[in-house]
Parts: sequence; C-alpha cells; structure tokens
Amino acid sequence: EKGGWPSFMAKEVSEEPEAVANTVRGRVHDGIVEIPELDGLDDLFRGIHRILVIACGTAAYAGQVGKYALEQWARVPVDVELAHEFRYRDPVLDAGTLVVSISQSGETMDTLMAVKYARERGAKTLSICNTQGATIPRESDAIVYTHAGPEVAVASTKAFVAQITALYLLALHVGRVRGVLSADASADAVAELEGVADKIAWVLAHEQERTAQLAGWMADTRSVLFLGRHVGYPIALEGALKLKEISYIHAEGFAAGELKHGPIALIEPGQPVFVIVPSPVYSAQLHDKVVSNIQEIRARGARVIVIAEEGDAAVLPFADEVLRIPLAGALFEPLLAVVPLHIFAMGLAEAKGLDVDQPRNLAKSVTVE
Ligand code: M6R
Repeated sequence: EKGGWPSFMAKEVSEEPEAVANTVRGRVHDGIVEIPELDGLDDLFRGIHRILVIACGTAAYAGQVGKYALEQWARVPVDVELAHEFRYRDPVLDAGTLVVSISQSGETMDTLMAVKYARERGAKTLSICNTQGATIPRESDAIVYTHAGPEVAVASTKAFVAQITALYLLALHVGRVRGVLSADASADAVAELEGVADKIAWVLAHEQERTAQLAGWMADTRSVLFLGRHVGYPIALEGALKLKEISYIHAEGFAAGELKHGPIALIEPGQPVFVIVPSPVYSAQLHDKVVSNIQEIRARGARVIVIAEEGDAAVLPFADEVLRIPLAGALFEPLLAVVPLHIFAMGLAEAKGLDVDQPRNLAKSVTVE
C-alpha cells in the first residue's frame, strides 16, 4: 500500500536509500565484496573475456552505468545491448562471454528471449532481478537479486538504483576473483558503497522540495533536454525517459561531448536543459569540459538547471538553478544525480494532473515482444 504517500512512485522514490542499503547488505565482509549467491563460480569469472549486458528501458540504462564499474574494477570489456536488438541479428557469442541480464520484473519478454537465445548459443547467463523466483532468473545460470522491495509504479525508480548497486557489487566481486582489483581500490569502493544510501537520503531531505517546486513552475514546458558525460550520460537518458513516460513531455538525453556534433542546434532562448556535472574533486578534467558545455548553451539562451556537487562554485555563474548532491567518488554520482531527475519527472506529472503511477499506453511489465 501507499502508506500515506500520494502515489506509489512517491513512496518508491522515498525508498531509494533502503533499496541500495538492502542490496548491499550481506554482501560485504571485512571490507571485501563477496556475493554468496556467486559461490562456486570463480572459474567462470576467471575464464570470461567479455561481458554482454542485456536489458530494456531503465534497466538498460543501469547496465550502461554498470559498464564503467565492470571495466574499471573487473577489467573485462563490456557491451550493453537492448535485448530486442540483440536477438534479431547474428551476435558473436561463445563460452567466454558472460551475458548479464537486468530486469526488475524478471518477466520482460524481450529480455527473457534474449537470455534463452544467449544460452542456446553457449554463453553463460547471470540475471540481476528484483523479483524472487521470476522467469528470467529461473532461466539463468546465476542470479544476483536486487533487494529494492516490490515496485508498483510503472516508472522504475528504486529498482534502478538497486540495479546499479548490484552491478557494482558484481564488478567488485569479479574483480577480486580475477585478481585485478587492488586492496585499496576495493576498500575505497566498499566505503563509498556503504555510505551512498545516506547520501541519497541527504538529496531527498535537501532537494526534494525545491526540485518539485521547479517542476511545478515548468508544467507548460514542451521539451526538456538532459546532458551528462561519462556515468552522467546514462543518467541523462534515464532523466529523459522518466519525463517522457509520466509527463508526456518531449525529452531527450545527450552525451555532453556530442553537443557540437548536432544537438546544440536545438538550443533556443528559454529551452530548459538539465546538466549533470561531474565532480570537480574526482573528475576535474571532465568537470571543466562540462562547465564549458554549460557556457555554450547558456550563451544561446538555454535555461540551465545544474545538478552539481556541494561546494562546486564553478557552475554558479552559468546556472539558472543548482540542485546539490553530496561529494561522492566518480562512479557513485549516478546514484545521487538520478534522484532529483526522478523527483522532477514526478513533480511535473503531478503538476499536469496526470496519473503518476499508471501512465497512458504503458504496462509495468512488458510480457509481450
Ligand atoms: O521489468 P524490467 O526491468 O525488465 O522492465 C524493463 C523496462 O520495461 C522498464 O525499465 C521501463 O523502461 C520502465 N517503465 C522505465 O521506467
């Protein structure tokens, strides 16, 4: 039940900190990530030369975020593919490819068919799933459950942050087993993982009201753009998807570096643009590049809403609005930056008087191809 919240989505966004904390719980021992469900698979993880992540929608964006962590900590090349695109060509697969599927429901037909297809062609399959005993985990060789709790709203929110968390745990587990993760890198990542739920709670406590208010002012907006770079790029895509889904507003996410290759032509006076700014502390170079992107779009009249770390003063002269997130290691920013985007989409749908939980034309779980 909604437990006093105006919608399931509002309740589920408020549960994002627990979704992350519960997914981490029981999988960290003495500062080391060990996922009990993956016991006995060490040889498999040592033998792979590639990881292919398959999923749809928001789960695929979680996969895109996870790619950065898997490559950094497990040193395995990662491709992320939409499940429905993957199956209808002749993909190169072998026993050295680990196919990781991500699905909240575990029943998405496109993803299920892609898992079966990969298995038939000799790949090993691992399912990241939020629903105990669902079909996709049953069809997979290994399972890592996310513990976000039941998600009812069509727009996926707490499951998304739990999926990223599970991918990070997987990356740290596989990196340790393969012997490529240094003790220091592991300890830093574990400390970040264990602290990130509280930081999400901080974002909810400090920025929820202002973000919702901003959404209310923008109820007449016809189009919103989202820019991000590195792990911020899939977050930009997620912000745009959520807005389309529940507020029926045209929205697009771009890689910030892509601006001058086309999208900057869309900028006209008053165009709202969200920009996810990388940490000036952990990613100084990327930070400066994104700040110059902000200057470019501002000079063309964009209305810039920045999501930036606390203490990042460089964005202030160029931003119309600044939403703050706490300082976190570069890979952990997505778990924080996505929170205002979820709140924004929800606030805009509410301001338009729409049914936040049951958007038109959509189903919670897409069980047809
Ligand atoms: O249950 P799944 O995670 O497999 O669902 C995948 C997508 O259908 C889902 O994430 C969809 O994009 C959401 N409605 C996004 O909010």
